[in-house]
Amino acid sequence: MGIFTPNVHNLHELYQDLLQRALSSERQIVNDGLPGMIKETTNVELREAFEAHLDESRMHVSRLERILDAVEGEENSTRCKTTAALINEASSSAKDAPDAQLRDVLLIAAGNKVEHHEIAVYGTLKTWAEILGEFEEAASLDKTLQEEKAADELLTRLSKLINVEAPVA
Ligand SMILES: [Fe+2]
Ligand SMILES: [Fe+2]
Repeated sequence: MGIFTPNVHNLHELYQDLLQRALSSERQIVNDGLPGMIKETTNVELREAFEAHLDESRMHVSRLERILDAVEGEENSTRCKTTAALINEASSSAKDAPDAQLRDVLLIAAGNKVEHHEIAVYGTLKTWAEILGEFEEAASLDKTLQEEKAADELLTRLSKLINVEAPVA
């Protein structure tokens, strides 16, 4: 199966499909991804960064629910398999690392991957919203896009401090 639901006929349908996938992605991050990463890390700054982004991600869920007119907690019509795979990879690789610093390095790498996926999705959604003339939705999607970029940059900054503490050989 491709990255979109088959039989979409126009940009509006593609936009709705990707919004559903983004909502599924955010719900997985809020319910499973970030709580798991918070539990795994022993670094205070990293934990605080994950906790702050968990709060932001709850806001990302509500923004998408507002755009989609979705009922809170209602089952998504489309599940984001990319996010499911990224979360799965993050939790299994963290479990494989017995060293706490190395585990933090892996968690940062996993976090960066998730943020880059979200940046790609929100960048696309914002562009499509503008093409479709949905300017309020584009502004809401842009707010989330900027928060994803900031989260990615914070993880990159933390990686420069934490990676040097990890065993290199
Ligand atoms: Fe998000
Ligand atoms: Fe994010």
